[in-house]
Amino acid sequence: MNVLLIGSGGREHALAWKIAQSTMLGTLHAAPGNPGIAEYATITALDVADHDAVVAFCRDTSIELVVIGPEAPLVAGLADALTQAGIPVFGPSAQAAQLEGSKGFTKDLCARENIPTGAYQRFNNAPKAKAYARAQGAPIVIKADGLAAGKGVTVAMTLEEALAAIEECFEGAFGEAGAEVVVEEFLSGEEASFFCLCDGKTALPFGTAQDHKRLGDGDTGPNTGGMGAYSPAPVMTPELIDQTMREIIEPTMRGMAAIGAPFSGVLYAGLMIDETGPRLIEYNVRFGDPECQVLMLRLKDDVLVLLKAAAEGELAHVSARWKDDAALTVVMAAEGYPATPRKGTPISGLDAAEANGAKVFHAGTVLDGDQLKANGGRVLNVTAQGADVTQAQAKAYEAVDAIDWAGGFCRRDIGWQAVAREAKK
Ligand code: AMP
Ligand code: GLY
Repeated sequence: MNVLLIGSGGREHALAWKIAQSTMLGTLHAAPGNPGIAEYATITALDVADHDAVVAFCRDTSIELVVIGPEAPLVAGLADALTQAGIPVFGPSAQAAQLEGSKGFTKDLCARENIPTGAYQRFNNAPKAKAYARAQGAPIVIKADGLAAGKGVTVAMTLEEALAAIEECFEGAFGEAGAEVVVEEFLSGEEASFFCLCDGKTALPFGTAQDHKRLGDGDTGPNTGGMGAYSPAPVMTPELIDQTMREIIEPTMRGMAAIGAPFSGVLYAGLMIDETGPRLIEYNVRFGDPECQVLMLRLKDDVLVLLKAAAEGELAHVSARWKDDAALTVVMAAEGYPATPRKGTPISGLDAAEANGAKVFHAGTVLDGDQLKANGGRVLNVTAQGADVTQAQAKAYEAVDAIDWAGGFCRRDIGWQAVAREAKK
């Protein structure tokens, strides 16, 4: 089976690495890819925003499955164009991708289907949003409705912060994404990420993870796309997974089918867990990055069998099995990330880093001749497994320390909650 993988991040490198292990694979093509993905795939210079060009490429190269990594092409309707052309695709339609593309859409679905989540209201102007925030009081959460690359959410601990965030959204800080604002109840508890593969009818639980969104050690500093992650998430017990399927995922699948937008692809639920159980913070319609990296390391089964089953509506007939090991990934980012990452700094020592069994996934890298260089914000994902999170963490940082990259940095405490929990046992 020939496969086209769309994307260029660490998430897609991890998918390429795992897809390359499939006995079903013919040729793997990738667009736009990166130097890590190029080890397993033929890189093609396709403009993925040009849907006709993608369809033509798939026909020319006999692609039997397209795997779409990031959210932007999904929200832009690439999966719809492929489906219309009769090409199997892993990823939701544009309409179903609204679960990530519009926070207001998701909140309204939660209200209709009685899915546990924070109380909220949607606004299209600042005065009304501010009046509601004042009436509710802090802490309170302000969200730009649309896609804002993970930066559209302000967890405001004071009313002043909330009012400033509302002002900022309506003044255009997030462009069109901020033309509508959701003001939401502050939820407390422990966060976890829960993944399902979906085929429009069936949702198959596909692992748990915890990520670290803040830039600095101790979960401080600005939000980022994610500075590291580990799997499984210890807070997600089998009972909580059942409760999440029953109260959140299954009603979502029913609700999406009911509006004529059955969901297929990865449903990634960001959850807040407290003593009453899980509440939905947000949905993403793709694998997390870097959560995908740790999931791929732990997945025992042939990922292509599972992705194909999801694309073809056959998920009821497959299952996913996981290693008992924990996996942990440390994101190495370019100095200046997230505001102004410095590009072009040389990186070496990746072979040494992988000598202890760790796997280094590339995100924003580029080859300049033979020299690997930084080419973006999040650059490398140093990923390792171990009997528990403590061991996986030690192995990942041993690998980090073998990498020679003066222009990069990472957090030194990825996995701290799980490590603390394990120390108590
Ligand atoms: P999001 O971009 O929706 O993932 O939000 C980014 C982060 O903001 C989440 O991972 C949470 O840590 C936090 N967050 C979002 N919504 C809430 C909420 N209602 N209560 C508390 N924290 C939240
Ligand atoms: N790591 C968070 C995300 O992929 O949204």
